[in-house]
Amino acid sequence: MNVATLAKLARSRQVPLLASLARGLVTPVYRASFLAAASGNGVLRRLAVRPCDLDTLANALDVREDRDVLRAWLDIGVRLGELGFDDGCYKLRGRAAKALGRPRNDAIAAALEEVTRFHLPVLLEAPAIARGGKRLTLRDQDGAVIARSTQVIRPFVEEAVDLVVERHEPRRLLEVGCGSGVYARHAALLNPRLTALAIDLQDDVAADAAANMAAWGLADRVEVRRADVRDLDMEPVFDLVTMHNNIYYFPTDERVKVLERVRSLLAPGGRLLLTTPCRGGPVGMEVLDLWFSCADFGGPLPDAAELVDQLRSAGFTGVRERRLIPGGEFRAFVGTHRDPEHGTDVEELI
Ligand SMILES: C[S@@+](CC[C@H](N)C(=O)[O-])C[C@H]1O[C@@H](n2cnc3c(N)ncnc32)[C@H](O)[C@@H]1O
Repeated sequence: MNVATLAKLARSRQVPLLASLARGLVTPVYRASFLAAASGNGVLRRLAVRPCDLDTLANALDVREDRDVLRAWLDIGVRLGELGFDDGCYKLRGRAAKALGRPRNDAIAAALEEVTRFHLPVLLEAPAIARGGKRLTLRDQDGAVIARSTQVIRPFVEEAVDLVVERHEPRRLLEVGCGSGVYARHAALLNPRLTALAIDLQDDVAADAAANMAAWGLADRVEVRRADVRDLDMEPVFDLVTMHNNIYYFPTDERVKVLERVRSLLAPGGRLLLTTPCRGGPVGMEVLDLWFSCADFGGPLPDAAELVDQLRSAGFTGVRERRLIPGGEFRAFVGTHRDPEHGTDVEELI
């Protein structure tokens, strides 16, 4: 480089700008994307057990054709400081890689995958979709990843389930959009006489939930079915219906109809527990809201007061709502399908 070029660079404001963008924006995006892919492809879990060479990783990832691409990708993980390379083997090096490789942090690893695979694309594509581009579909999500990532709020959902599940009498639960099935399991463990039907719209999600129930030894008490709640044609046999994190899978103007359908499945005196993020939460929830605004199904995250009105319009009585996260917008809603024999609402649960 000659002196004139050096002088030009020194005067330019672009060099410091580029350096600060690289440090503050670009490298973190690369790191998040690499970690999400390494987690999603099972590399972090594998390397958490022991360091592996390229051949072992290629076999595990079913890479037969292009090991050079796999090597180049892994080497970027090394450059980013998330992986190390010693004695011909890759190993976990960064704090994030080590944390995300632990099975107990599975929900957080899935949430990182959700952010990089679904939130980043919608931030990039929203203007084009607004101009009339192709809207997102349910197939643009990965139901299995979402079923794991939603578990980041599991303690709060379980707290709400604790409030509504009767502990001793035989009870029948319908769980709508069961995801992994963890909340149906939680209810079943609270009451050993509870039996449940857990449904999910997506084949793979329902299949995974059924496998989970079998692995948890609950297959005899919790039946899992692939079904759309809007088509569920059953007698009103349920004492409790739960809907966690899925009211926004229905367009706003269809929500009352869906809630009416849910109420029609409840026995007199039965209850609905619905948990959901509402509008006005952290920016990640605003991006989720944007995702559903760009999709050809579903609708925005609910406004809490509007959802209370919709529950009442659907015929629920004794409707209550409360924040599950102090100061946050993740909320629980409970409504009762009034028993005409008793005429009054049952006690406040939340
Ligand atoms: C964000 S996930 C939440 C999963 C689980 N409830 C949880 O909180 O971990 C929403 C789930 O609702 C399911 N779902 C959406 N619409 C549905 C419908 N009409 N009938 C049944 N399930 C539905 C989706 O397939 C998806 O698995």
